[in-house]
Amino acid sequence: MYAEQTAVQVTLRLNGTLQTVEVEPWTPLLDALRERLHRTGTKKGCDHGQCGACTVHLDGRAVLACLTLAIRADGHEVTTIEGMSRGDSLHPLQTAFVEHDGFQCGYCTPGQIMSASALLEENPDASAAEIREGMSGNLCRCAAYPNIVAAIRAVQGAR
Ligand code: FES
Ligand code: FES
Repeated sequence: MYAEQTAVQVTLRLNGTLQTVEVEPWTPLLDALRERLHRTGTKKGCDHGQCGACTVHLDGRAVLACLTLAIRADGHEVTTIEGMSRGDSLHPLQTAFVEHDGFQCGYCTPGQIMSASALLEENPDASAAEIREGMSGNLCRCAAYPNIVAAIRAVQGAR
C-alpha cells in the first residue's frame, strides 16, 4: 500500500522518555502526539496555526504542533502539557492558572501554559504588555485573558 511504503520512523524524547513512532512524512506533530502516542493533553483547535491550542515545546521552544511535521521532531526533545508536572506536583504555572481562574472550559489551557512557560524562559522579567504580546497567538474563546496574565505575573512574582 502507498501509505506503508512511505511510512517513516521518528524517534523523539517525549517528556523525558525516548519514543519511536511510525508516521507518514506529512503527518503533523499534533496528530502523531494525539493519535499515535496517545498524549491528548495537547489540543486541536483550528488545525491551521491560528489558535495556539496545540502549542508544545520542541527543544524548549514553543511551536504549533499542527504546523510542525512529526519528522521534524526526529532526534529532538518534545514537551507536552503532560510533561510539565512532576509526579503529583503541578508546574507553578498550572497552580497559578488554578489560583487565578486562568481558564473556564480549559480547552485552550494546555497551549496557554506551554506558551507561557516558553515566554518566561526567554524573558523572565516580561512586562504585562510583553506578556500580552507574547501570548497573543493563544486564543481563549472563554476570554479568560486578564486572569491568564495575572497567573503569569504571579509566577514571576513568586520567583
Ligand atoms: S490547532 Fe494549532 S494553532 Fe490551532
Ligand atoms: S478557557 Fe475556554 S477557551 Fe480558554
